[in-house]
Amino acid sequence: MRVSVFGLGYVGCVSAACLASMGHEVIGVDVNQVKVDLVNDGKAPVVEERIGELTAEVVRSGALRATVDVREAIMGSEVSLICVGTPSEPNGSLCTTYLERVTEQIGAAVAERGGRQTVVFRSTMLPGTCLNLLVPILEKALGGTAGVDIGVAVNPEFLREGTSVRDFFDPPKTVIGELDPASGDVVASLYESVPGEVFRVPVPTAEAIKYADNAFHGLKIGFANELGAVCQALGVDSHQVMDVFLADRKLNISPAYLRPGFAFGGSCLPKDLRSLVYAAQRADISVPILSHVLPSNADHLQRAVELVERTGKRRVGLFGLSFKPGTDDLRESPLVELAERLFGKGYDLRIYDANVSLSRLIGANREYIETRLPHLAQLLADSAEEVVEHSEVCLVGTKDPAVLSALPHGAGPVLIDLIRLPDAEARRTEPGYVGLAW
Ligand SMILES: NC(=O)c1ccc[n+]([C@@H]2O[C@H](COP(=O)([O-])OP(=O)(O)OC[C@H]3O[C@@H](n4cnc5c(N)ncnc54)[C@H](O)[C@@H]3O)[C@@H](O)[C@H]2O)c1
Repeated sequence: MRVSVFGLGYVGCVSAACLASMGHEVIGVDVNQVKVDLVNDGKAPVVEERIGELTAEVVRSGALRATVDVREAIMGSEVSLICVGTPSEPNGSLCTTYLERVTEQIGAAVAERGGRQTVVFRSTMLPGTCLNLLVPILEKALGGTAGVDIGVAVNPEFLREGTSVRDFFDPPKTVIGELDPASGDVVASLYESVPGEVFRVPVPTAEAIKYADNAFHGLKIGFANELGAVCQALGVDSHQVMDVFLADRKLNISPAYLRPGFAFGGSCLPKDLRSLVYAAQRADISVPILSHVLPSNADHLQRAVELVERTGKRRVGLFGLSFKPGTDDLRESPLVELAERLFGKGYDLRIYDANVSLSRLIGANREYIETRLPHLAQLLADSAEEVVEHSEVCLVGTKDPAVLSALPHGAGPVLIDLIRLPDAEARRTEPGYVGLAW
């Protein structure tokens, strides 16, 4: 394919040279004449493993050249990759100035040339930036409609500086946010010979994936470093701890605990986090990530309370009370906390939890329920239907099949989904359905 790459920084340079080496005809564009001259001399404007040799090779073969002229680049390409910088503004917000400028220039040049161009944004940008900010700029400059007269896609890049050439040819994944299937097809064919799974998703999803990745990577490093500092203070070999931690592929290095859902609770996580943070404090070790895990969890629970408040309704049904499925354990259950907050605010509450009802009759929790939660015990109903009958708002915190089959569809009570119900995807389009974090 004939490709123009806008922005010859780390991302643009690597993309341009690698695509050229894969057999595409590539023209790089930058506002910086020095970078353009360097590329045309066969030299990479960035220092990266293998990029020097690769640039020399593809420039020599004629597969890559560079220019400062946007028109020239558009005349010589059918797809444009945008790799301009998106730095932080002093207040932390994302600077989109370069993106806006280059989008406008491309739109105008394509209008002049005619025909359909596919514009692919590789720069990192917040969800909504492409569709709400850049597409209108592009359409205005073009005098046409995105998805019809011009292709638009977001193709975030996941290469690591230092090993980016290697990563380009063996990426962890390829993500294509497509405005329309034709735009996505163009991007997919660019990377045809690159291995790894390809995910074709809506444009804002592609934008968000990049942030999910980078936030998680930062979080992982911060977590490991904080844990290391605490271990060191406690005289424990942190690397030995992490060797074993990392060997656990079931709960630690795994998809476990990584789907948005309800707050955590139970008899272990809150208690153990509290004592770890306390131990760190006693050792004068600052652990901002670890010490904010419980406040983060409390804020998440508060989101559920606020969703109920926002309905303006008073009769509320809560499905599920124990801290996770298959147990009647109520200690530090976030659903108990939720019930108590709603009860305290005077909501007319009914609760259904099959395990808790049973244990109230026979189980070891009987005393706990009767002495610690007598106010909630009296709100327990015998069936899910009874609670549905009572409620203007259904708060669903369990996937108990009896509850799932009792939940109404369509117009009726507001349904606040705390746990991502199995049919959430279908329900999302129904009136009255509200997901806690989706
Ligand atoms: N560096 C990385 O490892 C990395 C990894 C993934 C994603 N990203 C993202 O990719 C984007 C680019 O990052 P980078 O590190 O390559 O940036 P960079 O600052 O190294 O390069 C950006 C280039 O764009 C050029 N430019 C600015 N306006 C232009 C215009 N109107 N026309 C043509 N060129 C123009 C600049 O002169 C510069 O050479 C950013 O959004 C960044 O967040 C970077």
